[in-house]
This record gives sequence, structure tokens and C-alpha cells, in this order.
Amino acid sequence: MTSQSYRKPLRKAVFPVAGLGTRFLPATKAIPKEMLPIIDRPLIQYAVDEAREAGIDQLIFVTGRGKTAIVEHFDTAYELETTMSERGKSFEVLEPTRVQPGNLVTVRQQVPMGLGHAIWCARAIVGDEPFAIFLPDELMIGSPGCMKQMVDAYDEVGGNLISVLEVPYEQVSSYGVIAPGKRLDALDGALCEVTGLVEKPKVEDAPSNLIISGRYILQPEVMRVLEGQGQGAGGEIQLTDAMARMIGEQPFHAVTFAGRRYDCGSKVGFVEATLALALERDDMAAEVREIAQRLLG
Ligand code: G1P
Repeated sequence: MTSQSYRKPLRKAVFPVAGLGTRFLPATKAIPKEMLPIIDRPLIQYAVDEAREAGIDQLIFVTGRGKTAIVEHFDTAYELETTMSERGKSFEVLEPTRVQPGNLVTVRQQVPMGLGHAIWCARAIVGDEPFAIFLPDELMIGSPGCMKQMVDAYDEVGGNLISVLEVPYEQVSSYGVIAPGKRLDALDGALCEVTGLVEKPKVEDAPSNLIISGRYILQPEVMRVLEGQGQGAGGEIQLTDAMARMIGEQPFHAVTFAGRRYDCGSKVGFVEATLALALERDDMAAEVREIAQRLLG
């Protein structure tokens, strides 16, 4: 295959949302963690908005038991809309929750066997097309958004792409880490080749401090690699291990995201994201700033 074959347009996005969200219990006992709001939008909405900004409109949710609220969120709520219309209220606020008929598909991951396994569960829906992956815990704020920046890079190099960012070395063991190769001139040097990938390395074994930050554009062949793959770090089927096996077979690049990232899988990161976004909103920034200053004494 020529690299030209790895440039099909990107139309599909997979959102692995089957996780139990134990770090946020008891909040997440009956509510999926992806439905926890940063101000007035659930986390999953930020990820879906980012996908759409990048021109992706086919949404594939890999869900599990107790996760139906996510699908409800993107469905039409007749009772709500009837009541709102009787009261003369605008529906504008619901716009981001609307999905064209047929553009939302869910598959179930019946057993929690890791991110690689979750992605593999979507193989029949992904079919023979490149696809994006969004980990909604990672809230990426940028203009343009992270996936749009990646799609711009994909238009240059095709193949497989991951977004990366730098973290202090002592944090690398919580993430997938890349071995960066040659830097490309395109996109102001934000693009580099990936020569290796390792999931949750020990600090002393880490090939760099550039971590995989939860956004991917992958070619469908990764599904076949996942098919026969055994357990990796933490006894889970790791997407990082499957991607590592694609290096050398297909183009593989990393884009350094120009923007801000909030780790909403952690409570402190969640608070940080809430505060940061509130301080940017015209409808509340002034008030929130005043409150924050008062609280800080
Ligand atoms: C997953 C990926 C890891 C990536 C991280 C980003 O890890 O396996 O490569 O760096 O997401 O948040 P998890 O957070 O599921 O352990």
C-alpha cells in the first residue's frame, strides 16, 4: 500500500465510555462520569463538540451497563421540548445535543479489559475507514480544538496520529509515552515522527516525557492488531501496544497540541477545569473572579 491509501477522509469517532468511574464515587454510582458537568455541559459534550469542529459527525460510543444517560443526552427529549415550547423558551441551548438520525451508534464492552479491548469492540462499526478516538476524561481546550489541529496534520501526512503533550518526568508512569523521531517542518514544527510507544513505563525506562493525551487518528488495520493481542500494562489489553506494532508498517506521527489540557479523570483536575472555564465565560467570569479572590483571602 502507498501512503496515499492512508489518507481516506475521517468521518467516524469512537468514544470509549464504559469505565466505572470509581474515582468519583459516590457521584458516579448512578451517573456515568462522562455526564459530570464542567459548569453546564457534561464532559462527553465537550468531546463531541471537538469532534464536530473537526468535521467528524459519526459518533460511536463504547458503553457498558449503567451508561444509558449518555445516549439519552444525545436523543430528542419530547417532554422537555414540549414544556419549553409551551413556555416560549428557546431550544438553542439543546442544539449541541442533537444528532442526525443514524449518526450515533453504541456498542457494549461487556467486560472491562482495557482501552484496547474497548476500541476493538467497535470494529464492525468502524469497518474499513480511519477513525478518531476521544478519551472524554481529557478535556482539551484550544482554538482550533485538538482534533481539528490533528486533522490539519492528517491532511499533511495521513496514516496514524496521536496528540501528545509534555509532562514532568515524575508523571510519565501514569500514561502512554512516545519515543519522538524526526521533527517535520509542517505545522510550525508541531509534528514529529513516532519511533516507539510504551504504556505506563517506569520513569527510568521512559523514552521521553511526551505523553499520549487522549486523542488519536488511527487506520482500521489497528483492529486486526488488537484482535490477537495479549494483556499489557496493568493486565489490560492496551491500545498503546497495538499502536506500537503499527510503527514501521504505516506512517505514525505525533502532534503537540497547542492549547490547554485538563485531566478531568482526577478530582483536582476537574476543579481546575471548572474554575478555568468559568473564568473565561462572559456570563460569569467577573463574579467567579471576585468569589475566587475572596476565597483566597
Ligand atoms: C489511557 C491510555 C494512555 C494515555 C491516557 C491519557 O490511560 O492508555 O496511553 O496516556 O489514557 O489519559 P488510562 O488513563 O486509561 O490509564
